[in-house]
Amino acid sequence: MVIKTFDEYQAAYKHSVDDPESFWAEIAQEFHWRKPWKKTLQWNFTEPTIKWFVGGKLNITENCLDRHLATRGDQPAIIWEPNDPHEASITLTYRMLHDQVCRMANVLKRNGVQKGDRVCIYLPMVPELAISVLACARIGAIHSVVFGGFSAQSIADRINDAQCKLVITADGAYRGNKEITLKGTVDDALIGCPSVQRVIVMTRTRTPIAMFKGRDVWMEQELKQVTAHCPAEEMDAEDILFILYTSGSTGKPKGVVHTIGGYMVYAAYTFQNVFQYKQDGRTGPQVHFCTADIGWITGHSYIVYGPLACGATSLLFEGVPTWPDAGRFWDIVDKHAVNILYTAPTAIRSLMSFGLDMVKNHDLSSLEVLGSVGEPINEEAWHWYDDNIGKNRCPIVDTWWQTETGGLMISPIANVTPLKPAYATLPLPGVQPILVDENGKEIEGNGVSGNLCIKFPWPGMLRTTYGDHDRCKQTYFATYPGLYFTGDGCLRDEDGYYRITGRVDDVLNVSGHRIGTAEVENAINMHTGVVESAVVGYPHDIKGQGIYAYVIIDQAPVDNDTDLMKRDILATVSRIIGPIAKPDKIQFVAGLPKTRSGKIMRRILRKIAEGELESLGDTSTLLDPAVVEEIKEGVV
Ligand code: WTA
Repeated sequence: MVIKTFDEYQAAYKHSVDDPESFWAEIAQEFHWRKPWKKTLQWNFTEPTIKWFVGGKLNITENCLDRHLATRGDQPAIIWEPNDPHEASITLTYRMLHDQVCRMANVLKRNGVQKGDRVCIYLPMVPELAISVLACARIGAIHSVVFGGFSAQSIADRINDAQCKLVITADGAYRGNKEITLKGTVDDALIGCPSVQRVIVMTRTRTPIAMFKGRDVWMEQELKQVTAHCPAEEMDAEDILFILYTSGSTGKPKGVVHTIGGYMVYAAYTFQNVFQYKQDGRTGPQVHFCTADIGWITGHSYIVYGPLACGATSLLFEGVPTWPDAGRFWDIVDKHAVNILYTAPTAIRSLMSFGLDMVKNHDLSSLEVLGSVGEPINEEAWHWYDDNIGKNRCPIVDTWWQTETGGLMISPIANVTPLKPAYATLPLPGVQPILVDENGKEIEGNGVSGNLCIKFPWPGMLRTTYGDHDRCKQTYFATYPGLYFTGDGCLRDEDGYYRITGRVDDVLNVSGHRIGTAEVENAINMHTGVVESAVVGYPHDIKGQGIYAYVIIDQAPVDNDTDLMKRDILATVSRIIGPIAKPDKIQFVAGLPKTRSGKIMRRILRKIAEGELESLGDTSTLLDPAVVEEIKEGVV
């Protein structure tokens, strides 16, 4: 399954298009199946129905853990680097991880979790997070990991949508010099979550927390009650592995559903190939360091499932790149002799701004492959990464993909695909991209741009949105019938290379986090005195995009203190969504530019937020063109 040369890539690509079923069947055969599948693929993009490895039976943890025990039981599976560099790091070998996953799985069973039940996981980046995820998979429970930066309200929404039975959390979390309460947030969330019967609490910060009799139990005490014997549940290839919530252009975040067989094959195949992971690196098995949080898809696929399915060593970091100083990533690379570093452009730009002094006293010679994910990488950041971190000897794989795609889609293969700065380059085998215009007409040839769609299924793709299949259909398969629509704009240059230009819908990408403008507007509108709001993105040097909110209020702020009112609005947004969704700029306006039919003309608001006050285009269809002048004068 490993591609070594560009010719092999081209041959694999051709095979994957000519005969997708035999292509993926060959790859899937390398895994451990309890029962073979009967049909490799069944699909249509209308309903949509997507099934891979139909009838196949397996357990993903047998593939990620058990099958490695004989050959590499003593090899590190997870290296954990704590927030505080003075605290000892922890290495879990495959044998230790297997043991701990089995114990945690028994704890879940003891607490009433059965196959098919949903479990919400709200934990810091500690080994127990990866262990909990795998423990769910071991017994066939469906995990829904919620990023630690989300508010109680967001947790409650996700728990209720999935009807989770149990929550796994911690007393608190360390992030840089901050201590964050997690259990308190969960307690607030659970006031409105009748489906939750049990909360398992691990101690991390050992801050005093409430523990409710009959509902809350300590993880450490539970673990003492169980053995490490836990046979893996036999699962169907198309049983749900996890739900992961992500933002779209309308409504509340939706639960993207991934199923076991296809997701496993795709996460592993893309991990192995794109990063060219080597078991026999210069100093043994390579160390792969993905800096994402497991609360996002990148962490699911490239900290947990992809690397472990390939028997790799995956580094899990609890802290932030700028604490104790902006050299922390380089310190970790040096300390653990990291070979593959996979991070986000926003982190690169942020670290760039601290200057090269932060880099220079660290030995980065172990690095062999660099990766980028989450947002378009600008050329300046690409070159800085290449020059100063990779020292011009490490390929940079700019990987384009999405929560919905399960794994990498358009990306160079390290040391195989010729690179072009800021380009995601070429589709991986099995991925058939197509560019279309507004009307869904294919844009052929090179040197063109359009909306990026995918025209054929790949094993890692989403199957549905939890509890609402029609939403999946409307969001991804209805815009351009017969195609999966990504929501991204894209150009294909003269060489047929792809460059993702960013979202074409109302989804923002702030520091690599997906945030729907409608979600932020709804949160702002919950604030007392706010009548209406409109949110757009604008270019931000570090975050990629910043959030700009235009807000109409119906009463003067208390004491006429508009600054305080802005801060109050931020507090409301933090409460409802979480701090990551706080607008960077708020402008109070008397009106919003609307068409006669009442639609907000975001195009104009975007231009104003971008500072392009002179080129607003046609405003003649506006109900009241005067509001535009007023908004221009009040720009913040
Ligand atoms: C954007 C993250 C440009 C894109 C894995 C996509 C990218 C959204 C890249 C998905 C990249 C991700 N170049 N843009 N290499 N990678 N994106 O679901 O807009 O959090 O639609 O998945 O991030 O974000 P998500």
